Amino acid sequence: MTCVLNPKLGVFFVVVLPQFIPAGAAVGPDVVGAGDVARRGSSPVVPPPGRRCGRAAPEPCWRDVRFGSGSTASPPQFSSASGCASPPTPRLGSPSCPVSVRLVGEWVPWGVAMERALVGPEGFYLGEAVPATNFRTSVTAAPELVASAITVLFEDVQAALGAGRADPEPGPAMDLVDLGAGGGELLAVLADTLPEQVRLHGVDVARRPPGLAARVRWSATIPEERIVGLLLAYEYLDNVPVDVAEIGPDGVPRLVLVDPATGEERLGGSLEPGDAAWLGRWWSLDGAPSGTRAEIGRARDVAWSTAVSRVGCGVVLAVDYDHGLARRPASGTLAGYRRGRMVPAVPDGSCDVTAHVALDACAEAGVSAGARATALVRQADALAALGVAADRPDVGMAREDPLGYLRALDAAGTAAELLDRSGLGGFGWLVQSVGGIGLPERFARTG
Ligand SMILES: C[S@@+](CC[C@H](N)C(=O)[O-])C[C@H]1O[C@@H](n2cnc3c(N)ncnc32)[C@H](O)[C@@H]1O
Repeated sequence: MTCVLNPKLGVFFVVVLPQFIPAGAAVGPDVVGAGDVARRGSSPVVPPPGRRCGRAAPEPCWRDVRFGSGSTASPPQFSSASGCASPPTPRLGSPSCPVSVRLVGEWVPWGVAMERALVGPEGFYLGEAVPATNFRTSVTAAPELVASAITVLFEDVQAALGAGRADPEPGPAMDLVDLGAGGGELLAVLADTLPEQVRLHGVDVARRPPGLAARVRWSATIPEERIVGLLLAYEYLDNVPVDVAEIGPDGVPRLVLVDPATGEERLGGSLEPGDAAWLGRWWSLDGAPSGTRAEIGRARDVAWSTAVSRVGCGVVLAVDYDHGLARRPASGTLAGYRRGRMVPAVPDGSCDVTAHVALDACAEAGVSAGARATALVRQADALAALGVAADRPDVGMAREDPLGYLRALDAAGTAAELLDRSGLGGFGWLVQSVGGIGLPERFARTG
C-alpha cells in the first residue's frame, strides 16, 4: 500500500498495489471498497435468478439434497447450486469446503428460517464474519461519534438516578448493556472513556470480539441481575425473526413459507389467531389486494419486552430502521446483506437477513413490560440533542493546521452521514424509562 499526495488537490490517495491484496480476497466486480459497504435498512432487492453465481467471491460449497428425495430405495439426488454456470470447486468436506449438503424443498415459515439462518448452530452470526465486514451500521460507520452521544445519554441517566437519592455522591454503580453488540465497536470506545465503576456488558450470540477490553463482560443472553443504568440495542431488533403474511389470490391472508436453501416462497395456511390479532392492531391487511404483505413483529415485541423487564431502573434504547402505523410498506422489507453488498434475502446462513422494525409496536410492548415514559424520535434529532453536529471547520484552519483541518473535515463528514435524514439519520430511536425515573429532559424537546 502506498500513499500519494496530489499537490493540486492537497489530498492523500491510498493506492493498494496488487501484491498487497491478500490471497483469496475477492477481486473484480464483486469487490466493494469500504465506502461502498451497503448500509442496512435500504430498500430490499428482488431476488434475481442464479444469485449465488458470484464470480470471484469465495462461496460455500455444497450439494443440494431435495427434501424427501433421500429414501432408502433411491439415494439422494444431488444437483449443483442454484444453476451456477460454473459451480464452486466441490471437494466436499475439505476445510475450504465445509458445507457439504443442504436440504432444499423444505418449506418453513420465515420466522423459523430467519432464526436458524442467523443464530442457529450454523447461523450467519455464529460464523467468523462480524457485522462490520458485511454491512454498515451507525456504530460501525462512526463508533466514536455514537459513543460520545451514548455517553451524554448515560450521564443523563446517571444524573436522574442520583437525583432521587439524599446523597448523590459517589453515585450508584451503574450498568451499560449493549444488546446485539456485534463486533464490540461501541463498547471498545466506551471502555476507554467511561469511568471504571461503570459495568460494561456486551450481549451477543457471536463470540467475544478479540482484543475487547477485559472490563467488558460478554454473554450470549442478557445478564440475570437487574440492570441499573442504560440498556441499548443498536440494529438488534431487525434481526429478531419475523413471520410474513401475504394476501392470497382468494383475498385471505396466508402465512408465507420459504425454502431456506433457495429463498423461494409459497403460500401456506391461514394465520394463527395471535398473528392475526397482531396484524389487526399493527399492520392491517383488511381489504388489501392479493400479493400485499406484512411482517409480523410479535417476536420483536417479546424480545423488547424481555429486555425492558430486565432493567430495574434506568433507560432502554432501541435504534433501528423502522416504520410506523401510517406507513407500513405494502411489499415488506426483507433484505439480505453479505460482504458489503445487499443481496436477496435467502435464509441459508450465508448472509444477514433483516426486516424493518415496527418500533411503535415494540414501544407498546415495552410499556406493558414496565416502561414508564416513551419517546420515539428520529436518530438525527436524538443525536443532535446529544451534541452531535456536522459543522465544518473554519477554512482558515487549513493553513495553520492542515492535518487537523483534514481530520475535522472528515469528522464533519461522518457526523453528516449519521445526521442525514434520508439515511442513518432517518432511523428510529425508541427511548423508554424504567423504574422510578423519567426520560431525560432533552428527549422532551426532540420531535
Ligand atoms: C446487525 S448486528 C448489529 C451489531 C451492532 N449493534 C451494530 O450496530 O453494529 C445485530 C447483532 O445482533 C446479534 N443478535 C441477533 N440475534 C440475537 C439474539 N437472539 N441474541 C443475541 N444476539 C443476537 C447478532 O449476532 C449481531 O451481532
